[in-house]
Amino acid sequence: MQPTEPALSYDVYQHPKAIAYQQQHPRRSLPKFGPYLLLQTLGEGEFGKVKLGLHEEWGEEVAVKLMRRGNVDNQVRLSKVEREIEVLKKLKHPNIVRLYDVIETDKYIGIILEYASGGELFDHILAHRYLREKDACKLFAQLISGVWYIHQKKIVHRDLKLENLLLDRNRNVIITDFGFANRFEHKADDLMVTSCGSPCYAAPELVISEGAYVGSAVDVWSCGVILYAMLAGYLPFDDDPSNPDGDNINLLYKYIVSTTLTFPDYVSEGARHLLGIMLVPDPKYRASLQTVMQHEWLAPYLIAGLV
Ligand code: ADE
Repeated sequence: MQPTEPALSYDVYQHPKAIAYQQQHPRRSLPKFGPYLLLQTLGEGEFGKVKLGLHEEWGEEVAVKLMRRGNVDNQVRLSKVEREIEVLKKLKHPNIVRLYDVIETDKYIGIILEYASGGELFDHILAHRYLREKDACKLFAQLISGVWYIHQKKIVHRDLKLENLLLDRNRNVIITDFGFANRFEHKADDLMVTSCGSPCYAAPELVISEGAYVGSAVDVWSCGVILYAMLAGYLPFDDDPSNPDGDNINLLYKYIVSTTLTFPDYVSEGARHLLGIMLVPDPKYRASLQTVMQHEWLAPYLIAGLV
Protein backbone atom coordinates (compact mmCIF):
# COMPACT_ATOMS: atom_id res chain seq x y z
CA MET A 1 0.00 0.00 0.00
CA GLN A 2 1.10 3.53 -0.80
CA PRO A 3 1.64 5.68 2.27
CA THR A 4 -1.12 8.24 2.45
CA GLU A 5 -0.10 11.76 1.50
CA PRO A 6 -0.27 14.15 4.43
CA ALA A 7 -3.24 16.47 3.92
CA LEU A 8 -2.13 19.84 2.61
CA SER A 9 -2.82 22.24 5.40
CA TYR A 10 -2.19 25.90 5.85
CA ASP A 11 -0.24 26.92 8.94
CA VAL A 12 -1.43 30.37 9.86
CA TYR A 13 1.36 30.63 12.46
CA GLN A 14 3.81 30.77 9.54
CA HIS A 15 2.09 33.82 8.05
CA PRO A 16 4.66 36.67 8.00
CA LYS A 17 2.38 38.88 10.09
CA ALA A 18 1.90 36.13 12.71
CA ILE A 19 5.65 35.52 12.87
CA ALA A 20 6.41 39.22 13.19
CA TYR A 21 3.79 39.65 15.90
CA GLN A 22 5.10 36.70 17.91
CA GLN A 23 8.64 37.99 17.65
CA GLN A 24 7.49 41.28 19.11
CA HIS A 25 5.39 39.58 21.81
CA PRO A 26 7.27 36.34 22.51
CA ARG A 27 5.47 35.30 25.66
CA ARG A 28 1.96 35.96 24.52
CA SER A 29 -0.10 33.17 22.99
CA LEU A 30 -2.18 34.37 20.09
CA PRO A 31 -5.85 34.78 20.98
CA LYS A 32 -8.50 33.60 18.55
CA PHE A 33 -11.88 35.00 17.68
CA GLY A 34 -14.04 32.70 15.58
CA PRO A 35 -11.73 31.47 12.81
CA TYR A 36 -9.43 34.49 13.17
CA LEU A 37 -6.11 34.78 14.96
CA LEU A 38 -5.93 38.21 16.56
CA LEU A 39 -2.75 40.24 16.15
CA GLN A 40 -1.95 43.88 16.80
CA THR A 41 -4.40 46.62 17.66
CA LEU A 42 -5.21 48.79 14.65
CA GLY A 43 -7.32 51.33 16.46
CA GLU A 44 -9.55 52.04 19.39
CA GLY A 45 -13.27 52.11 18.78
CA GLU A 46 -15.93 53.55 21.03
CA PHE A 47 -16.78 50.18 22.57
CA GLY A 48 -13.50 48.34 22.16
CA LYS A 49 -10.48 47.70 19.99
CA VAL A 50 -10.02 47.05 16.31
CA LYS A 51 -7.48 44.26 15.77
CA LEU A 52 -5.77 42.75 12.78
CA GLY A 53 -7.22 39.28 12.21
CA LEU A 54 -5.77 36.42 10.18
CA HIS A 55 -8.08 33.68 8.94
CA GLU A 56 -6.69 30.41 10.33
CA GLU A 57 -7.38 28.45 7.14
CA TRP A 58 -6.73 30.98 4.41
CA GLY A 59 -4.49 33.58 6.04
CA GLU A 60 -6.80 36.35 4.82
CA GLU A 61 -6.19 39.64 6.62
CA VAL A 62 -9.21 41.39 8.11
CA ALA A 63 -9.93 44.09 10.66
CA VAL A 64 -11.87 42.77 13.66
CA LYS A 65 -13.86 45.42 15.47
CA LEU A 66 -14.36 43.91 18.90
CA MET A 67 -17.01 45.22 21.21
CA ARG A 68 -17.22 43.90 24.72
CA ARG A 69 -20.81 43.11 25.57
CA GLY A 70 -20.18 44.79 28.92
CA ASN A 71 -19.52 48.04 27.07
CA VAL A 72 -22.65 47.71 24.97
CA ASP A 73 -24.78 47.57 28.06
CA ASN A 74 -27.71 49.78 27.27
CA GLN A 75 -30.27 50.07 24.49
CA VAL A 76 -28.80 53.27 23.03
CA ARG A 77 -25.36 51.68 22.64
CA LEU A 78 -26.72 48.42 21.36
CA SER A 79 -28.83 50.13 18.73
CA LYS A 80 -25.79 52.11 17.63
CA VAL A 81 -23.89 48.89 17.02
CA GLU A 82 -26.88 47.32 15.30
CA ARG A 83 -27.34 50.37 13.11
CA GLU A 84 -23.71 50.29 12.04
CA ILE A 85 -24.09 46.63 11.06
CA GLU A 86 -27.38 47.23 9.23
CA VAL A 87 -25.91 50.15 7.31
CA LEU A 88 -22.71 48.33 6.37
CA LYS A 89 -24.70 45.34 5.09
CA LYS A 90 -26.30 47.59 2.48
CA LEU A 91 -23.08 49.10 1.19
CA LYS A 92 -20.82 47.75 -1.52
CA HIS A 93 -18.47 50.32 -2.96
CA PRO A 94 -14.71 50.41 -3.55
CA ASN A 95 -14.25 53.36 -1.18
CA ILE A 96 -16.38 52.05 1.66
CA VAL A 97 -15.15 49.49 4.14
CA ARG A 98 -16.64 46.09 3.33
CA LEU A 99 -18.46 44.11 6.01
CA TYR A 100 -17.53 40.42 5.78
CA ASP A 101 -19.19 38.92 8.81
CA VAL A 102 -20.51 39.48 12.32
CA ILE A 103 -19.41 37.01 14.98
CA GLU A 104 -21.03 36.95 18.40
CA THR A 105 -19.65 35.22 21.47
CA ASP A 106 -20.61 35.36 25.15
CA LYS A 107 -18.27 38.27 25.81
CA TYR A 108 -17.94 40.01 22.47
CA ILE A 109 -19.69 41.21 19.35
CA GLY A 110 -17.11 41.20 16.54
CA ILE A 111 -17.54 42.98 13.23
CA ILE A 112 -15.27 41.47 10.59
CA LEU A 113 -14.24 44.19 8.16
CA GLU A 114 -12.06 44.67 5.14
CA TYR A 115 -8.51 45.47 6.29
CA ALA A 116 -7.23 48.81 5.02
CA SER A 117 -3.49 48.26 5.22
CA GLY A 118 -2.41 51.80 4.24
CA GLY A 119 -3.32 53.28 7.63
CA GLU A 120 -5.12 56.53 8.37
CA LEU A 121 -5.30 59.37 5.88
CA PHE A 122 -4.53 61.58 8.88
CA ASP A 123 -1.05 60.07 9.23
CA HIS A 124 -0.48 60.19 5.47
CA ILE A 125 -1.12 63.95 5.50
CA LEU A 126 1.02 64.51 8.61
CA ALA A 127 3.90 62.60 6.99
CA HIS A 128 3.81 64.97 4.00
CA ARG A 129 2.77 68.06 6.01
CA TYR A 130 0.11 68.72 3.36
CA LEU A 131 -0.79 67.00 0.08
CA ARG A 132 -0.04 68.07 -3.47
CA GLU A 133 -3.26 69.17 -5.17
CA LYS A 134 -3.09 66.33 -7.67
CA ASP A 135 -2.93 63.74 -4.85
CA ALA A 136 -5.55 65.51 -2.78
CA CYS A 137 -7.83 65.69 -5.83
CA LYS A 138 -7.65 61.92 -6.38
CA LEU A 139 -8.33 61.12 -2.71
CA PHE A 140 -11.09 63.70 -2.48
CA ALA A 141 -12.78 62.36 -5.65
CA GLN A 142 -12.79 58.90 -4.05
CA LEU A 143 -14.25 60.30 -0.83
CA ILE A 144 -16.99 62.09 -2.77
CA SER A 145 -17.68 58.98 -4.84
CA GLY A 146 -18.25 56.97 -1.64
CA VAL A 147 -20.35 59.67 0.01
CA TRP A 148 -22.44 60.12 -3.15
CA TYR A 149 -23.06 56.37 -3.15
CA ILE A 150 -24.24 56.27 0.46
CA HIS A 151 -26.48 59.32 -0.07
CA GLN A 152 -28.02 57.52 -3.07
CA LYS A 153 -28.85 54.74 -0.61
CA LYS A 154 -30.50 57.36 1.61
CA ILE A 155 -27.83 57.05 4.26
CA VAL A 156 -25.79 59.89 5.75
CA HIS A 157 -22.51 59.14 7.51
CA ARG A 158 -22.59 62.12 9.92
CA ASP A 159 -19.10 61.54 11.35
CA LEU A 160 -16.80 62.04 8.39
CA LYS A 161 -13.34 63.05 9.58
CA LEU A 162 -9.73 62.24 8.75
CA GLU A 163 -9.55 59.55 11.45
CA ASN A 164 -12.41 57.70 9.75
CA LEU A 165 -10.72 57.70 6.37
CA LEU A 166 -8.27 54.86 5.84
CA LEU A 167 -6.12 53.92 2.87
CA ASP A 168 -5.92 50.51 1.25
CA ARG A 169 -2.66 49.04 0.00
CA ASN A 170 -3.01 50.96 -3.26
CA ARG A 171 -3.60 54.24 -1.43
CA ASN A 172 -7.30 54.38 -2.20
CA VAL A 173 -9.64 55.96 0.35
CA ILE A 174 -11.69 53.59 2.52
CA ILE A 175 -14.47 55.25 4.52
CA THR A 176 -15.08 53.57 7.89
CA ASP A 177 -16.98 53.93 11.12
CA PHE A 178 -20.68 54.08 10.39
CA GLY A 179 -21.63 54.23 14.08
CA PHE A 180 -23.37 57.58 13.58
CA ALA A 181 -24.84 56.81 10.17
CA ASN A 182 -28.55 57.17 9.69
CA ARG A 183 -31.19 56.80 7.07
CA PHE A 184 -33.36 59.42 5.42
CA GLU A 185 -36.17 58.02 3.32
CA HIS A 186 -37.73 60.99 1.58
CA LYS A 187 -36.82 64.56 0.88
CA ALA A 188 -38.76 65.68 3.97
CA ASP A 189 -36.93 63.08 6.03
CA ASP A 190 -33.64 64.52 4.92
CA LEU A 191 -34.04 66.37 8.21
CA MET A 192 -32.79 64.67 11.30
CA VAL A 193 -32.55 65.72 14.88
CA THR A 194 -29.79 63.80 16.61
CA SER A 195 -26.62 65.74 17.22
CA CYS A 196 -23.50 63.76 16.52
CA GLY A 197 -20.01 63.75 15.11
CA SER A 198 -16.77 65.42 16.09
CA PRO A 199 -16.85 69.16 16.78
CA CYS A 200 -14.04 70.19 14.43
CA TYR A 201 -15.70 68.50 11.47
CA ALA A 202 -19.35 68.98 12.39
CA ALA A 203 -21.56 71.36 10.42
CA PRO A 204 -22.61 74.46 12.38
CA GLU A 205 -26.32 73.71 12.07
CA LEU A 206 -25.74 70.68 14.32
CA VAL A 207 -25.27 73.01 17.26
CA ILE A 208 -26.51 76.46 16.31
CA SER A 209 -30.02 75.65 15.17
CA GLU A 210 -32.32 73.97 17.58
CA GLY A 211 -34.16 71.06 16.13
CA ALA A 212 -33.92 69.62 12.66
CA TYR A 213 -31.09 69.91 10.19
CA VAL A 214 -30.60 68.79 6.64
CA GLY A 215 -28.93 65.39 6.76
CA SER A 216 -26.96 65.19 3.55
CA ALA A 217 -25.58 68.75 3.82
CA VAL A 218 -23.70 67.87 7.03
CA ASP A 219 -21.59 65.36 5.10
CA VAL A 220 -20.76 68.06 2.53
CA TRP A 221 -19.51 70.29 5.34
CA SER A 222 -17.32 67.53 6.79
CA CYS A 223 -15.93 66.72 3.32
CA GLY A 224 -15.02 70.42 3.02
CA VAL A 225 -13.16 70.28 6.36
CA ILE A 226 -11.35 67.14 5.16
CA LEU A 227 -10.36 68.71 1.83
CA TYR A 228 -9.13 71.81 3.64
CA ALA A 229 -7.00 69.63 5.95
CA MET A 230 -5.54 67.71 2.99
CA LEU A 231 -4.53 70.91 1.20
CA ALA A 232 -3.50 73.09 4.14
CA GLY A 233 -2.13 70.46 6.54
CA TYR A 234 -4.29 71.70 9.40
CA LEU A 235 -7.98 72.04 10.21
CA PRO A 236 -9.89 75.17 9.15
CA PHE A 237 -11.73 75.46 12.46
CA ASP A 238 -9.84 73.99 15.36
CA ASP A 239 -10.66 73.95 19.02
CA ASP A 240 -7.61 76.09 19.45
CA PRO A 241 -5.28 74.97 22.29
CA SER A 242 -4.36 78.63 22.89
CA ASN A 243 -8.02 79.26 23.61
CA PRO A 244 -8.66 78.55 27.30
CA ASP A 245 -12.26 77.71 26.41
CA GLY A 246 -11.13 75.39 23.62
CA ASP A 247 -13.40 72.65 24.81
CA ASN A 248 -16.38 74.92 24.55
CA ILE A 249 -18.17 73.64 21.47
CA ASN A 250 -20.52 76.59 21.39
CA LEU A 251 -17.58 78.97 21.14
CA LEU A 252 -16.15 76.91 18.29
CA TYR A 253 -19.42 77.27 16.41
CA LYS A 254 -19.67 80.99 17.09
CA TYR A 255 -16.15 81.22 15.70
CA ILE A 256 -17.10 79.21 12.60
CA VAL A 257 -20.14 81.25 11.71
CA SER A 258 -18.43 84.60 12.30
CA THR A 259 -15.05 83.98 10.66
CA THR A 260 -14.21 84.22 6.98
CA LEU A 261 -12.22 81.31 5.67
CA THR A 262 -8.53 81.97 5.09
CA PHE A 263 -6.01 79.81 3.25
CA PRO A 264 -2.27 79.31 3.27
CA ASP A 265 -0.77 80.76 0.09
CA TYR A 266 0.02 77.34 -1.43
CA VAL A 267 -3.69 76.55 -1.92
CA SER A 268 -4.81 77.21 -5.52
CA GLU A 269 -7.66 79.50 -6.60
CA GLY A 270 -9.71 76.54 -7.85
CA ALA A 271 -9.44 74.72 -4.53
CA ARG A 272 -10.27 77.89 -2.61
CA HIS A 273 -13.41 78.35 -4.67
CA LEU A 274 -14.52 74.75 -4.08
CA LEU A 275 -13.86 75.01 -0.34
CA GLY A 276 -15.65 78.37 -0.31
CA ILE A 277 -18.89 76.83 -1.59
CA MET A 278 -18.68 73.78 0.73
CA LEU A 279 -17.77 75.48 4.01
CA VAL A 280 -20.84 77.71 4.03
CA PRO A 281 -22.31 77.79 7.55
CA ASP A 282 -25.92 78.04 6.40
CA PRO A 283 -26.84 74.65 4.91
CA LYS A 284 -29.39 76.35 2.62
CA TYR A 285 -26.55 78.02 0.72
CA ARG A 286 -23.99 75.22 0.99
CA ALA A 287 -23.16 73.41 -2.26
CA SER A 288 -24.89 70.11 -2.86
CA LEU A 289 -22.78 67.03 -3.47
CA GLN A 290 -23.78 67.16 -7.12
CA THR A 291 -22.44 70.70 -7.42
CA VAL A 292 -19.22 69.60 -5.72
CA MET A 293 -18.83 66.75 -8.22
CA GLN A 294 -19.28 69.13 -11.14
CA HIS A 295 -16.66 71.56 -9.86
CA GLU A 296 -13.80 72.31 -12.20
CA TRP A 297 -11.17 71.50 -9.55
CA LEU A 298 -12.37 67.88 -9.60
CA ALA A 299 -12.40 67.65 -13.41
CA PRO A 300 -9.14 65.63 -13.60
CA TYR A 301 -10.88 62.92 -11.55
CA LEU A 302 -14.42 63.43 -12.76
CA ILE A 303 -16.43 60.53 -11.47
CA ALA A 304 -17.63 59.12 -14.76
CA GLY A 305 -21.28 58.27 -15.03
CA LEU A 306 -22.34 59.97 -11.82
CA VAL A 307 -22.87 63.55 -12.96
N1 ADE B 1 -8.66 50.65 11.94
C1 ADE B 1 -9.97 50.68 12.13
N2 ADE B 1 -10.61 49.99 11.18
C2 ADE B 1 -9.67 49.52 10.33
C3 ADE B 1 -9.69 48.77 9.11
N3 ADE B 1 -10.84 48.35 8.60
N4 ADE B 1 -8.53 48.51 8.52
C4 ADE B 1 -7.39 48.95 9.06
N5 ADE B 1 -7.30 49.67 10.18
C5 ADE B 1 -8.43 49.95 10.81
